[in-house]
Amino acid sequence: MNFQTTKQHEEFRAKVRAFAESEVKPVAFLLDKENRFPDEIVSKMGALGLMGVPYPTEYGGAGLDVLSYAIAVEELSRVDGGTGVILSAHVSLGSWPIFAYGTDEQKRKYLAPLARGEKIGAFGLTEPNAGSDAGGTETTAVLKGDHYILNGGKIFITNAPKADTYVVFAVTTPDIGTRGISAFIVEKDFPGFDFGDHYDKMGIRSSSTAELIFNNVPVPRENLLGKEGEGFKIAMATLDGGRIGIASQALGIAQGAYDSAVEYAKERVQFGKPIGFQQSISFKLADMATKLRCARMLIYSAAELKEHHEPYGMESAMAKMYASDIALEVTNDALQIYGGAGFMKGMDVERAYRDAKITTIYEGTNEIQRVVIASHILGKPPR
Ligand code: CAA
Repeated sequence: MNFQTTKQHEEFRAKVRAFAESEVKPVAFLLDKENRFPDEIVSKMGALGLMGVPYPTEYGGAGLDVLSYAIAVEELSRVDGGTGVILSAHVSLGSWPIFAYGTDEQKRKYLAPLARGEKIGAFGLTEPNAGSDAGGTETTAVLKGDHYILNGGKIFITNAPKADTYVVFAVTTPDIGTRGISAFIVEKDFPGFDFGDHYDKMGIRSSSTAELIFNNVPVPRENLLGKEGEGFKIAMATLDGGRIGIASQALGIAQGAYDSAVEYAKERVQFGKPIGFQQSISFKLADMATKLRCARMLIYSAAELKEHHEPYGMESAMAKMYASDIALEVTNDALQIYGGAGFMKGMDVERAYRDAKITTIYEGTNEIQRVVIASHILGKPPR
């Protein structure tokens, strides 16, 4: 399996890195401090083509590959994990199910403005009683005439309330488990659709996260995504791809912290020489670099499998699990290298340490990733 980046990938990386360094990095501290969504940055990301990286140009996308998309999330997250997840949730979760399961009309109406960056996308799956057990969805959609009437609510929804278009999962046939769940495209302005308060989070504070509240929301019948009862499979397939995005976010956060730690280790002098030349620090850096390289290989190979329409669910779960686990270790080590200075607000490593934590939790906890990986190895348990 070849997962080398090409010259085009590295040119694309350089373009995203230049944008991230000049536009995102200077404000990342304030966005985090003020818990503020970067509206202007997101519109510039749209103008740069980042909001539709892997989608065909005929639907407003940049027509690049999945690996380019992973690189874009990685490079944004290298300076700000919050901005990285805005892109990941928009591309992987808000847009992909419409790309993969939408009719041509749905793609033209909803995917194209998302891919052009004119609209922002989100994904409404998680509920108070349906987190890891996504099949426990309680939100309902009852068909009445030409509309499904949506009732219920979703929690922890990335990009809400900023997003315009939501892919929402609801029960259309009760009492038959996951096969009774359907997917819908819901517009922000549909009557009865409301939002809870923007959460005050530990990390990724530049991304917005809110509850979705559905109170008799009429969703036109033509906004059913796929067929009735296909929703759970759509959600699972979407998350297979989403995990490449979160893995890339984790990698980027860790890479940023590592890069800062290397610089600091070269500059900071103690006991008569830069601390990087003390074995306690140089060995840490060696371990950090090795973990980053392993994570990158896992992520890029999963991206390449997806690009070539080969099975990749196990590989994306491995990439997400590993990259997020090592992001915690690498950001912790980076902060340790900074010592007391790293513990101070305003230091990039302090923010990276907080931003990294969520990557082991969302889009499936790392415990759920192990369930997914094991199910690929062992299949279904005997009855
Ligand atoms: N692709 C397609 N179909 C799939 C699938 C996949 N990857 N995984 C499972 N399915 C199908 C199965 O084949 C099965 O189909 P049949 O009914 O035809 O047999 C059906 O779905 C049910 O499968 P399971 O019995 O395996 O389902 P389960 O109820 O045991 O759940 C699970 C499996 C892996 C634990 C799943 O519930 C899961 O992934 N949970 C985690 C949810 C999650 O990741 N939430 C994240 C929310 S989004 C988020 O975090 C976004 C953000 O903020 C950025």
